[in-house]
Amino acid sequence: EKGGYDHFMLKEIFEQPQTIYDCLRGRLDADKGMITMSGIEKYAEQIMNANRIMIVACGTSWHAGLVAEYIFEELCRIPVEVEYASEFRYRNPVVHQGDVIIAISQSGETADTLVAIENAKENGAIILGVVNAVGSSISRLSHAGAYTHAGPEIGVASTKAFTAQLAVLTMIALKIAHKKGTISIEKYSILCKELAEVPDKVAEVLKLDDSIRLLAEKYKDAYDFLYLGRGYNFPIALEGALKLKEISYIHAEGYPAAEMKHGPIALVDEHLPVVFVATKDAYHEKVVSNMQEIKARKGKVIAVITEGDTVTPSIADDVIILPPAHEIIAPMLSVIPLQLLAYHIGVAKGYDVDKPRNLAKSVTVE
Ligand code: F6R
Repeated sequence: EKGGYDHFMLKEIFEQPQTIYDCLRGRLDADKGMITMSGIEKYAEQIMNANRIMIVACGTSWHAGLVAEYIFEELCRIPVEVEYASEFRYRNPVVHQGDVIIAISQSGETADTLVAIENAKENGAIILGVVNAVGSSISRLSHAGAYTHAGPEIGVASTKAFTAQLAVLTMIALKIAHKKGTISIEKYSILCKELAEVPDKVAEVLKLDDSIRLLAEKYKDAYDFLYLGRGYNFPIALEGALKLKEISYIHAEGYPAAEMKHGPIALVDEHLPVVFVATKDAYHEKVVSNMQEIKARKGKVIAVITEGDTVTPSIADDVIILPPAHEIIAPMLSVIPLQLLAYHIGVAKGYDVDKPRNLAKSVTVE
């Protein structure tokens, strides 16, 4: 049932070229520049004209929401607020008739997310579900939505569901931006094409597995890790840190790279590995200077970079080199080595990576 893999987590990481493909299939026609999503089409006018979009989710799904915030704001020019479902539901949030709320959930059963949208629905909000489990409570409660089609996720740590969430959310944003006219035809068609190439590029990234296993050996005894990124890669830094915490029980923090100097840089010494999610994007040069700040304090820099980047290898202790991709697409690639790193460190430390201590696959209690 693990298809020849040692663990479900590894199997699910390796399924991603297929699961992302399944998620795009029948929806994205890159050649014609068409995105078909019937659930979203039904509410397209409301989404386009929304004064803001609220996204509610927990954990890894919340990180997908953060990436979506950057994408929606950039492409659709609609303000987005991303909320922890647990905070949103208890603080008497301001929800008006016709507000658009996107609930993101792999299991579709997360109690906090479910109650958060139940309350918002009573106040007249339109609920769109981005859910993996077909027929689950959150999907039934939503007015419409789009399934992620990643198939059952058995490993407790979410991996393939996350990249499928990113693929769905990117398609929704592209569709709305195209309809609203906030994206040029040229950029729209470039992004459609790039999206269609993601499964092949993910397969390319998975070839780094052996070298990431060696990195895991090298760094497995660290007590703490920092994960840093900017822009679209900032939520990926958060996700990388969460994966490591869950699977290897090593304390890890994700941070926006530029916030380092406002506090956390005090932690840096020769024992601290710092993972930079630094693929080629508008922020790249800035991230490289953040790397230099870490190096100057003797931290160990592990840099996730893009093919052809010549500056970074000279600054980093270790590099993980990814195929080039548009910055909006890059998170679907840059998260992969972080999933693998967490997996291999967990295995190297002898832990049960499919069932990490204290965690349940779906959190149906508040
Ligand atoms: C992390 C993880 C959790 C879930 C969170 C939300 O690897 O699996 O953080 O992402 O519990 O679960 P869903 O997406 O099922 O609502």
